Amino acid sequence: MKLIDGKKIAETIRQEIAGEVKRITGAGGKVPHLAAILVGDDPASETYVNNKAKACKEVGFDSSTYRFPADVQQEELLEAVDFINRDPEIDGLIVQLPLPSHIDNQKVIQQILPEKDVDGFHPVNVGRMTIGLPSYVSATPHGIMELIMRSGIQTRGRHCVVLGRSNIVGKPMSLLMARNEEPGNATVTVCHSKTQNLKEITSAADILIVAIGQPEFVTADMVKEGAVVIDVGIHRVPSAKTKSGFRLIGDVRFDEVAQKASRITPVPGGVGPMTIVSLLLNTLKASKKEIY
Ligand code: GUN
Repeated sequence: MKLIDGKKIAETIRQEIAGEVKRITGAGGKVPHLAAILVGDDPASETYVNNKAKACKEVGFDSSTYRFPADVQQEELLEAVDFINRDPEIDGLIVQLPLPSHIDNQKVIQQILPEKDVDGFHPVNVGRMTIGLPSYVSATPHGIMELIMRSGIQTRGRHCVVLGRSNIVGKPMSLLMARNEEPGNATVTVCHSKTQNLKEITSAADILIVAIGQPEFVTADMVKEGAVVIDVGIHRVPSAKTKSGFRLIGDVRFDEVAQKASRITPVPGGVGPMTIVSLLLNTLKASKKEIY
């Protein structure tokens, strides 16, 4: 078994981005700029947005955060999105999710100009990705495709099983793996909570992508000898062995599945570190007007 080291690959990409920023600004070009809208004071969202700002700084991007109280009116958020849409200094905009329940997520996402939608959540970007046009791809599937590409994993003609069908992971993942481009060209099966004979299907996978959201759901008996296993899950569980009192685990029972897999992503240090890097790559593309 060989680990797919997401931490190391993410660091390599960050260095590549930093080099590109130096080249652009050295030639008199504009510094890429990512804006985030943060509503309320959810600590997890606060951490995500802070991490994104920190990552921007590390590669030489500008970033700004627009904060709103949890009781903000939807109209005010839509106006803020319009304001950022019109600002030529800002290349990319993300609205940190989840939003408070009185706000219509889709309404806010659809207010973002597709050319600034570096989260790839706008239906125009989702639709373009679906029909194979250049688009922003959302952070997790984008990061997984980078991991696969940079690890030299062959996907062409292989059987890829995707566990999970969410809009932000399972669904785009299955489309990307099946696309007529490489990485891609895989034969894809999508499994979900209503799938029958799940073990039979996952055991036939050459590449198994797990985004089911249940701790250690995938066990060794569900995996074919020599398969590539990508674990998208991340769960915090109590642990007596760590100073913090908890540890992180994935959707895959790592110790036993690692015995059978040819390649596997660890948790933490696999898919996770790739997600912020994907957002940086999308912001760089936005600033270079590569997609639109
Ligand atoms: N909340 C959790 N993940 C994400 C993400 O990738 N983008 C946004 N905007 N919000 C999130």
